[in-house]
Amino acid sequence: MPQESAVYTHGHHESVLRSHTWRTAANSAGYLLGALRPHMRILDIGCGPGTITADLAALVPDGQVTGLEYAPEILEQARATAAGRGLTNVHFAVGDVHALDYPDDTFCVVHAHQVLQHVGDPVQALREMRRVTKPGGIVAVRDSDYAAMTWHPESDGMTDWQRLYQRVARANGGEPDAGRRLHAWARQAGFTPDAITATAATWLFRTPAERSWWSELWADRTVSSSYAPADTPQRRSCNGSRGPGGPGAPTRTAGSASCTARSSAGSDGGARPVGSPPGRVRSPSPPPLPPTAQPHPLPGR
Ligand SMILES: C[S@@+](CC[C@H](N)C(=O)[O-])C[C@H]1O[C@@H](n2cnc3c(N)ncnc32)[C@H](O)[C@@H]1O
Repeated sequence: MPQESAVYTHGHHESVLRSHTWRTAANSAGYLLGALRPHMRILDIGCGPGTITADLAALVPDGQVTGLEYAPEILEQARATAAGRGLTNVHFAVGDVHALDYPDDTFCVVHAHQVLQHVGDPVQALREMRRVTKPGGIVAVRDSDYAAMTWHPESDGMTDWQRLYQRVARANGGEPDAGRRLHAWARQAGFTPDAITATAATWLFRTPAERSWWSELWADRTVSSSYAPADTPQRRSCNGSRGPGGPGAPTRTAGSASCTARSSAGSDGGARPVGSPPGRVRSPSPPPLPPTAQPHPLPGR
């Protein structure tokens, strides 16, 4: 593992993939879709099970999409997803965002959804994303901001879960409140302010089915995924034996931020789009999100 890498807090337990496989380009990368063109070559970093990657490939039928992952074991599922949709313009590879194995100026769009919050050096990651993006291309990142997650009514169990998650993620070398930091990281990585578009979107879990889906997913993650620590007192205090709540859990909103930056020629002065979003989960059958749960379209994109 490279020195910059953090431990990936979630791992790929079923309770994690329940939410990741719910994701689509429409519900997780809406801020980027208006910029896509059929011929584009796209790199989707930290692609996980590849549902967003497959959607991106379908949106660039004359182009090519590469899904890149640090964890090789999840790529089998990603490949199966793409094959199941009959996509022939997408392939998958193992790699680390801190040191991309591609020449400069290779891709039209370099995208990372819910990845920078988990890496040891997000600024270096953005530098690399920028390096492999063609002049005039787009770097697009979206990440959750756990401190921005809200619910009503107040719940001590939910607050315990929020604080515990933040502690675990930081102990693993990540930054759970990444969303608010994206534009600053982009500046540090060399993107110029006028080339950065920062946006935000919210996932809303309002109905009983949505609340159950999200709550059960996090309950299961809390006890069964890589995020689950040993059976510590801190963990047991997170709403007793389960996670952040059940069907009666409060309505919750998950804030996330994204930004995109335009790439320009040269290694220093260029600006590219950077942006990021939130994380999610499923029930036996993932409930469709009501209109209020869809991420807001990004201004101007
Ligand atoms: C929260 S998941 C997001 C998966 C997918 N983008 C989505 O939104 O459904 C983060 C992914 O980033 C991958 N990852 C973590 N560190 C990485 C790194 N240094 N380079 C590339 N991928 C990484 C993890 O293995 C994991 O699959």
